[in-house]
Amino acid sequence: MVKCFIFINIFFLALYVTFHSSSAITNYNVLSFGAKGNGVTDSTQAFIKAWAAACACTESTTIYVPKGRYLLGSIAFKGDCRGSDITFRIDGTLVAPADYRVLGQADTWLGFEGVSGVSITGGALDAKGSSLWACKASGNNCPNGATTLSFTNSNNIRINGLISLKSQMYHIVINGCQDVHIEGVKVIAAGDSPNTDGIHVQLSRNVMIMNSSIKTGDDCISIGPGTRNLWIERVNCGPGHGISIGSLGKDMEEEGVQNVTVKKTVFTGTQNGLRIKSWGRASRGFVQGIRFIGAIMQNVQNPIVIDQNYCPHNLNCPGQVSGVKISDVMYQGIRGISTSPIAIKFDCSTKNPCKGIRLQNVNLTYLNQVAQSSCTNVIGKALGLVKPSSCL
Ligand SMILES: *[C@@H]1O[C@H](CO)[C@@H](O)[C@H](O)[C@H]1NC(C)=O
Ligand SMILES: *[C@@H]1O[C@H](CO)[C@@H](O)[C@H](O)[C@H]1NC(C)=O
Ligand SMILES: *[C@@H]1O[C@H](CO)[C@@H](O)[C@H](O)[C@H]1NC(C)=O
Repeated sequence: MVKCFIFINIFFLALYVTFHSSSAITNYNVLSFGAKGNGVTDSTQAFIKAWAAACACTESTTIYVPKGRYLLGSIAFKGDCRGSDITFRIDGTLVAPADYRVLGQADTWLGFEGVSGVSITGGALDAKGSSLWACKASGNNCPNGATTLSFTNSNNIRINGLISLKSQMYHIVINGCQDVHIEGVKVIAAGDSPNTDGIHVQLSRNVMIMNSSIKTGDDCISIGPGTRNLWIERVNCGPGHGISIGSLGKDMEEEGVQNVTVKKTVFTGTQNGLRIKSWGRASRGFVQGIRFIGAIMQNVQNPIVIDQNYCPHNLNCPGQVSGVKISDVMYQGIRGISTSPIAIKFDCSTKNPCKGIRLQNVNLTYLNQVAQSSCTNVIGKALGLVKPSSCL
């Protein structure tokens, strides 16, 4: 602990370090590194210095962001750090530059890489994405835009009570991580904002997403290749495109998706509910051990869908046959209203039929009418009450 103090004292004389001797936590307030919560002063360097101090400290550290609006450019919070317990406690709002071009060329606005034991508690991230969305809608030449918050190759991550507003691209990305706990997160973006997925997970294990609300223009949660042991519970989605496993099978040598549970979700006015999607292309990818348990569909276009013929603009999908093998997928306790006649659609690969698909206690109507189900190349069974009557 003393080491942390000395390290920091050499560099910053007007230092604000608080020691809580009982809990041995070193507290770095971003204001003491020169951050200004007035919404106009660029605080990027102050946050970088606060991170460097916390990262060099062997003890548990808290980086505290008081109330206020902090203007930040793109920042990479990199490991390895000396300690393995750094908490960002945020009472304020971090805001992106008003000109979307500043972040537009960056991959990520706030990116953590190679860190361990990092928590983010509270706070709001306002990426001010709407001007970029408008640029894209106008068909002009626009930058891709930045992901708001990403964790790459990191372990033991907690995100708690964070609000993410109007991301330029994805709001939160978990890539190559293990043991990630996301809870009480709110994502808010326009229903027509492009590629603004709420939470994207890929190449990661043991990720939990709970008690969160995601209103956005693209997928609520998108689950990419190499995801294992993902648990999603009590998440409200909509507007947006719902929860999606995929698109998978874009590349031949792609890792599979395994052991995903999605429990007690509510979809309101979304394009899809529970979707699995793969490219109509050769691949060694797979999807197995998926449990969709207890979902309410409130006016959802496609409540249950497997689509193995994904090929936007019919480009680069020779033969249109997906190599992705889908097996052992359970839908249990799914009810509510579809806004299209086909409430259940399984459109699987001619080469690799979907196997072990189970429907149990499903009750979906098409508005006030009877809905239909549609099956192509799928093997499975229905148990208990299943409406629309199952085509399995
Ligand atoms: C999530 O919310 C439910 C219902 O509000 C609550 O009972 C539960 O404790 C929460 N879960 C956690 C881990 O806080
Ligand atoms: C599946 O994932 C859950 C966490 O989501 C984990 O508790 C469980 O052990 C995993 N099962 C297997 C067989 O790995
Ligand atoms: C199925 O849902 C409809 C509409 O929500 C409802 O009226 C009906 O009672 C439900 N059927 C069963 C068997 O639960």
